[in-house]
Amino acid sequence: MKVLNFGSLNYDYTYQVSHMVRPGETLASKNLQIHCGGKGLNQSIALARAGMKVYHAGMVGEDGGQLLDTCRQEGIDTDFVLACEGKSGHAVIQVTPKGENCILLYGGANRKNSVEHIDKVLASFDEGDILLLQNEINLVNELIDRASRKGMKIVLNPSPFEEELLGYRLDKVNTFLINETEGRQMSGGKTPEEILMRLHEKYPESEFVLTLGEKGVCLSFGKECLTVPAFCVEAVDTTAAGDTFTGFYLAGVLQGCGREEILRRACAASALAVMKKGAAASIPRMKDVELFLSER
Ligand code: RIB
Repeated sequence: MKVLNFGSLNYDYTYQVSHMVRPGETLASKNLQIHCGGKGLNQSIALARAGMKVYHAGMVGEDGGQLLDTCRQEGIDTDFVLACEGKSGHAVIQVTPKGENCILLYGGANRKNSVEHIDKVLASFDEGDILLLQNEINLVNELIDRASRKGMKIVLNPSPFEEELLGYRLDKVNTFLINETEGRQMSGGKTPEEILMRLHEKYPESEFVLTLGEKGVCLSFGKECLTVPAFCVEAVDTTAAGDTFTGFYLAGVLQGCGREEILRRACAASALAVMKKGAAASIPRMKDVELFLSER
């Protein structure tokens, strides 16, 4: 069983600000850090740091060298990442003293995937292999459609959410990893219970992992539901916390751990991620997660 992550690779320009810039305001930032990021790349790194072999597919621009090097340093297979003319994707991220962020995305090369490239990549994967997706690249629906026809298992983190997603073949998705805001947008429900009930009605075959920030996480499968509390830590930067959760969650499932252990490990990993600045740079390794858990 192989894991393919078809996803974005970004350069993150992270600015420390006193508050989020308001409409019409010009605000001086306190600091700029440039890191590798992108939901796709972050999730591949989280999977790799959780002990999984990952194949990353996607596109980078002419400036994509550092993105590829970063993946390779983590042992991620980048044979399916193509380089194209123009710029790689990037994100402009503001981080406040409370660790909150807001993100402006430029898709760049991430929006230049082609059906030919998808078909070529999927030809190397088989029934039962995993396809992990986020919503920062083009052709997500085509990927879901083609991979499900091959019998691959599809894991979707529908982030950033956009209305268009609701028209995709989401009934083919095996596992959704969503936060509360995405859950509301996808279902129209208000409370976590209502969100999960409505999503189950819409996609009865799927499993849902609903992250609730400081309130923890709820895993819902069939009629069962398991909730695990979050770890209380001091956040300095929440960027990539969700990506870290996704990578460690999926790794736990594929490593055959029990459901509660999977959730605790993923919550611990994202708690560690918010305690450090940056996206990919903040993602912990499995040994750090185990140490954190052993101290609780
Ligand atoms: O989830 C965090 C990521 O979102 C950042 O790394 C940024 O690139 C955006 O894609």
